[in-house]
Amino acid sequence: AGSPLIDTHGRVHRDLRISLTDRCSLRCTYCMPEQGNEWLAKTSILTLDEIELIARIAAADGITTFRLTGGEPLLRTDIVEIVRRLAAIEGPDGRPVEIAMTTNGIRLPEVLPGLAAAGLGRLNISIDTLRRDRFHELTRRDRLDDVLEGIAAAAASGLRPLKLNAVAMRDVNDDELVDLVEFAIAHDAQMRFIEQMPLDAGHTWDRSRMVTQDEILQALARRWELTPVPGRGGAPAARWTLDGGPYTVGVIASVTAPFCGDCDRLRLTADGQLRNCLFSTTEYDLLPIVRGAAGEREQDIDGMLRACVRGKLPGHAINDPSFLQPARGMNAIGG
Ligand code: GTP
Ligand code: 5AD
Ligand code: SF4
Repeated sequence: AGSPLIDTHGRVHRDLRISLTDRCSLRCTYCMPEQGNEWLAKTSILTLDEIELIARIAAADGITTFRLTGGEPLLRTDIVEIVRRLAAIEGPDGRPVEIAMTTNGIRLPEVLPGLAAAGLGRLNISIDTLRRDRFHELTRRDRLDDVLEGIAAAAASGLRPLKLNAVAMRDVNDDELVDLVEFAIAHDAQMRFIEQMPLDAGHTWDRSRMVTQDEILQALARRWELTPVPGRGGAPAARWTLDGGPYTVGVIASVTAPFCGDCDRLRLTADGQLRNCLFSTTEYDLLPIVRGAAGEREQDIDGMLRACVRGKLPGHAINDPSFLQPARGMNAIGG
């Protein structure tokens, strides 16, 4: 316990993505089927205390960022308390951890003041299109206005950097890339475009339909001069300045330019499974441990974190002919 989480490829793990629920207020086609999934059993969802316990041990082992994801994390009624408890955790050096969240933005105007006061540091908000009809079709919910209000609330708050995420999709939003960047700039935010990954519940992902990083950059280069920003660290997004800055755009090219070599992430699902990769086929079950004998919990959670890190492969196999999509969809893995 207490030593860094280094895998067999030398990668030090500093980022734990915690999925708080598999439920969501939207039904994006690249993530969930229209009718939703069979939801995780309520009794298997980690409680506030259980999440805090796991996070405390992870921080002692060198995790410095907790990113809260879902499903939609704001659907948790105890979300403010979760942020408050996690933000109070200190690393081994006595430094506070960073709390970030990835959300669809709905309910943000209502909860953001509480979240900020509780210690939330950073927000990433998903917005794939600015057109109401498209938004409705893509997410199967007519809630673009709620998302826009959420983004406005985030922009008005002091939380920076503020990042906006869009999965680039052919014939869906690939004619809106410039508009989305301009929208982000107007909100003092960084727009990021994401290559679609094979994580949809329907397993309908098709490489030939994926909008690639190259295509995204070509579309943006018609409007701005793009200059690469060096020094990306373990971040999934490569960035470019727009006409020399200060604004930048990011591209997350998980398929055509994987960043696995620098991956510093672990994932915890809402039902207490540790995963060392979005695409891993193995999960490490913390549920019986956090619900087990009090005396051994800490040590066993630490042991499981280490086993999970030890089992991490050098990278995903999306580009192998033998690639198999993970059994869970994005909403249950946690994005
Ligand atoms: P920052 O810390 O702000 O850079 O956040 P992030 O980009 O890691 O997180 P976010 O939740 O906004 O995710 C944006 C996109 O990156 C989503 O499509 C994620 O699925 C994807 N992503 C995040 N982490 C990983 C990862 O480790 N591997 C892969 N392949 N994709 C990831
Ligand atoms: N491929 C790429 N990104 C995805 N996201 C959800 N599903 C996919 C997918 N199949 C994105 C969401 C959100 C982030 C958490 O993950 O749009 O921005
Ligand atoms: Fe890390 Fe897996 Fe993502 Fe690669 S695909 S960056 S190994 S989580």
